Amino acid sequence: MQVIKTIAEMQQFSLNCRRNGQTVGFVPTMGFLHEGHLSLVDQAKNESDIVVVSIFVNPTQFGPNEDLDAYPRDFERDESLCENRGVAAVFYPPVDQMYDDNFSTWVEETALTNTLCGESRPGHFRGVTTVVTKLFNAVLPDVAVFGQKDAQQAMVLRRMVRDLNFPIKMIVAPIVRESDGLAMSSRNKYLSNDERQRALSINRSLISAGELFKNGETSASVLIDSIGSEIAKNGGKVDYVKAVSQDTLQEVESLEKPSFIAVAAFFGKTRLIDNIFLG
Ligand code: PAF
Repeated sequence: MQVIKTIAEMQQFSLNCRRNGQTVGFVPTMGFLHEGHLSLVDQAKNESDIVVVSIFVNPTQFGPNEDLDAYPRDFERDESLCENRGVAAVFYPPVDQMYDDNFSTWVEETALTNTLCGESRPGHFRGVTTVVTKLFNAVLPDVAVFGQKDAQQAMVLRRMVRDLNFPIKMIVAPIVRESDGLAMSSRNKYLSNDERQRALSINRSLISAGELFKNGETSASVLIDSIGSEIAKNGGKVDYVKAVSQDTLQEVESLEKPSFIAVAAFFGKTRLIDNIFLG
C-alpha cells in the first residue's frame, strides 16, 4: 500500500491505474478509522478495481468553536487498518497541500444546506463540498462511497456531483453500529462511559419511532416529541430532531411520503448525529 502526500503524486497514481484499465474507488475520511469507514472500503472494493482512502481533517468544515484541534488522529493505526483491508493507496496530504495561504475559491450547494446540520453549523457544508471537490480532483475516482450516518452530507454531495457533472458514481452505504446500537463515529471516543450509556437513547428513540411508524403513526410532531423526550430524559441536549423529505430535506408534517428523521444531540460536549429512514 502506498502513502501519498501530494496532489500531483495522487493524480499520477490514479492516472496510471486508469491507463492500466483499472477503475478507482474512493473513500474520503477524516481518519481515526472505525468499522463504519472500513465498511465503505469494502463497498468501494466491490465496485472498483482498486481503492484509495483519503485521510484529511479538513479545517474549513469546522466552525470557530468546534473541535478541529481536538479531533482524534492516529495515522499509524489508520494506515495499518487500510493495509489490512486491501486499500491500494492512502492519500494523506498536509493542510498546506490542500489550502494555499491565498486560497479563495469555494464550492457551495444552496438548496439542501440551510437546514439540519447546515443550520446548526454555518459554513460546514461549504467546507465539505469544497474539500470533496478538491479530493475528487486529486484522486480522480470512478466511484466514491459515503456513509448514510451523514445523510444530509450524502444528499448534498450527490447533488453536487450531479450539478457539477463529476463523472463519478456515488454510493451511500448503510450506517454501521456498535453492538449496543450506537452509530459508529470517530467522535464516540470523546464520550465518558456514563455519556456513552446515555447516548444509546438516540438509537433507542429512533427505533421506537420506527415502531410507532410501522404501527400507523405518521404525525411528524408525535414521532419527533417521542425522540426528543427520550433523549432529554437521558440527559442529552437536543440540537435538533426533524422529519424531512428524502428528496428536498424540507420539513414534513406527516411521514406519508419517503422521509427521514434526523437527530443531533449533545452528550456532555460531544455532538452526535443519527437518523432513520421511514416511508
Ligand atoms: O464525512 C467526513 O468524514 C467528511 O465530511 C469528509 C466527507 C471526509 C470531508 O472532509
